[in-house]
Amino acid sequence: MEEIKVLICHKDSRARDNLRRAIQFDPILNVAGSAKSGKESLEIAQELFPDVVLMSLSLGDMDGIEAAQRLQENAPFVQIILLAHELDYNVMRRAMNFGISDVIKWPVDPDDLHAKIHEAAARKRKIMSRITGPLDEQTPAPEKTAGPKGKILAVYSPKGGVGCTLLATNLALLLHRADIPAVLVDGDLQFGDVSIFLNQAAGNTVSDLVPHVDEMDDEMIEEVLLQHENGLKVLAAPPSPEMADDMTSEIFGKILDHLQRKFAYVVIDTGSALDDVTVTILEKADLILTIATPDIPSIKNSRAFFGILAALEISMNRVILVLNGVQRGDMITNDDITKSLKIEVAAELPFDRKAVLESINKGKPLLLEGRGNPLARGMIELLGVIKERMVEEVVMELEAVEN
Ligand SMILES: Nc1ncnc2c1ncn2[C@@H]1O[C@H](COP(=O)(O)OP(=O)(O)OP(=O)(O)O)[C@@H](O)[C@H]1O
Ligand SMILES: [Mg+2]
Repeated sequence: MEEIKVLICHKDSRARDNLRRAIQFDPILNVAGSAKSGKESLEIAQELFPDVVLMSLSLGDMDGIEAAQRLQENAPFVQIILLAHELDYNVMRRAMNFGISDVIKWPVDPDDLHAKIHEAAARKRKIMSRITGPLDEQTPAPEKTAGPKGKILAVYSPKGGVGCTLLATNLALLLHRADIPAVLVDGDLQFGDVSIFLNQAAGNTVSDLVPHVDEMDDEMIEEVLLQHENGLKVLAAPPSPEMADDMTSEIFGKILDHLQRKFAYVVIDTGSALDDVTVTILEKADLILTIATPDIPSIKNSRAFFGILAALEISMNRVILVLNGVQRGDMITNDDITKSLKIEVAAELPFDRKAVLESINKGKPLLLEGRGNPLARGMIELLGVIKERMVEEVVMELEAVEN
């Protein structure tokens, strides 16, 4: 059985020690951290991704239910057990309304505490398995391979039609250089249109690999790649939606491993549905470029998506948020979004129907046409941010190896 990560949050140090002692005999329960205030619990939870939080009702800086509510904004599937002296109607009603998963009377009975932590963790596992599929069907860990691995940039939006394909194609074209090659992968297996954006509609697709899964190697993958006129290689999506069913997350993961060995950058245009393949892409990605548009539904979906990333234990350090389709007079501003989603907007790309239509009609990506227009310039700036973040990643990896 997998270990259960527990975070203890109580303002009194003796109480924290008692709680730790009460559960330490159980090898499955790992007290990953303890916090003395609501604020500290929020900070620690963002780092540790606990499964279960033991939260005292009274904290110094905020009340435990408020802390629980804020904790869930970043990690909606974390299970919070409230510890309260009095289980009165008021506490129970607020606890219920704010998504507390259980309430225990303080001081706690160790057996009761122990049982309730296990019940809460089982609830979380059940929710998670609905998102990512049953645990035993999950993608096995990728084989460890020697040699440098290319960086994966996933372009994702929880809402369709906001510019993922436009951005993924243009960024891949910009990233590609003969000596530092990039590959563009259409990860929207059902409705992918990368090849149309690049004017390469007929040709091999990822489906051609499915019958040869067992003998798949780098050469075979190279054979099904299309080549754009600027040299960028492209792995196209299946020619029809039903053919996407043949692609499992395991096969797709293997394909990505091969591509990472051949290319410095693997840019993936990702479909909005959070199916197994998309989750695999997000898990493997070094950077997740999340696209939002300046409207309430898009912000709401982005918040829900960030919650899912937390549940998948994917750090927000890997996320870059981009605002696309910005127009003068938009009601929602960059600042509103930063405050609401607690992440900075890395780039704002203007709405420019004319430039986009022209590029589509000519079958030429925007950046090969007019690098001078504001949308193209915005993308070039965005590329600067992406490259900087990738370099930071490499430095962090090297530091981790050294330590
Ligand atoms: N900044 C922009 N200005 C004008 N039009 C844009 C802009 N960004 C995207 N579009 C247009 O909006 C439409 C949707 O863009 P795109 O296909 O890239 O989105 P998507 O997120 O990949 O959508 P889907 O969910 O269908 O895959 C396209 O016609 C595209 O050209
Ligand atoms: Mg698309």
